Amino acid sequence: IQATLIGIPTDVGASRLGAAMGPDALRVAQLAPALERLGVAVHDLGNLAGPPNPRNERDTEGMRNLAECLDWTQLAHDAVLQVLQQDRLPIMMGGDHMLAAGSISAVARHCRATGRRLRVLWLDAHSDCNTPQSSPTGNMHGMPVASLCGLGPAALAALSGATPALPASAFCQIGLRSVDESEKRMIDELGLEVYDMRAIDELGMREVMRRALTGLSGPGSSDVHLHLSFDVDFLDPDIAPGTGTPVRGGPNYREAQLCMEMIADTGRLASLDIVELNPALDVRNQTAELVVDLVQSLFGQSTLMRPVAGAVQC
Ligand code: ARG
Ligand code: MN
Ligand code: MN
Ligand code: MN
Repeated sequence: IQATLIGIPTDVGASRLGAAMGPDALRVAQLAPALERLGVAVHDLGNLAGPPNPRNERDTEGMRNLAECLDWTQLAHDAVLQVLQQDRLPIMMGGDHMLAAGSISAVARHCRATGRRLRVLWLDAHSDCNTPQSSPTGNMHGMPVASLCGLGPAALAALSGATPALPASAFCQIGLRSVDESEKRMIDELGLEVYDMRAIDELGMREVMRRALTGLSGPGSSDVHLHLSFDVDFLDPDIAPGTGTPVRGGPNYREAQLCMEMIADTGRLASLDIVELNPALDVRNQTAELVVDLVQSLFGQSTLMRPVAGAVQC
């Protein structure tokens, strides 16, 4: 595998400052060397340069920092598309989750152009499917899923060259435990596939991941592009305090490892967002170090010999 790290240091989509330091925290936690030890060839192209955070409460029709968010998502889109066209695996180091509207738009565009099927796994405490009309906060990091499904400002929704960028059925959300009333209705309307924390409690992480990864391995699945959008607040805040909107009751260390290992077993991972890491709220960079540990599992680190990638039947 050849991977390219893209630093996307923005927090304009969030209400708390600090996620803009996420890319450097991941570098300090040795993300690139950790991947190289697993045989991944890594190139770090540095940080994208976008507009700073205006740090005011300026609000355009229910959206905070709309102009800055549009700039950052366009920059993310362009950079990710270029990496995909080089047949490399882009790893987006965020930055707040709003950037996924840009990265996933690029992935959708690339899949359309190359005739591949796109599956998006969204690991998060939140559903991020608010629209400007429904959002209780106006924070754009709570809106990327709605935007990718064609809702909200047209300029953002059309980034991939088609609106919607992808069908709602391409998404699978895992780990949810904080969903606004407006989002509950949206999940229902869009028909989003969701495994909330109750599903993980009742079925266990293994069965949830088996269902989420159905059709991604074995014969007939080689045309699938699997994108993982990993919001660090997916993890329980006891083990991952360095994030801006923590919600208690998330997956523990073992559950998170199993989740990553089962994704690795499919052999289909083709792009990755790491978002909402906020070093200003972290304790001695432990959240960044945990993320690096989990990403190693995602790229095939295992205790024993691994099965042949893609051979595992889900
Ligand atoms: N639902 C809340 C909102 O719309 C919280 C969103 C949190 N999103 C995130 N990417 N951390 O503001
Ligand atoms: Mn390609
Ligand atoms: Mn979240
Ligand atoms: Mn999120």
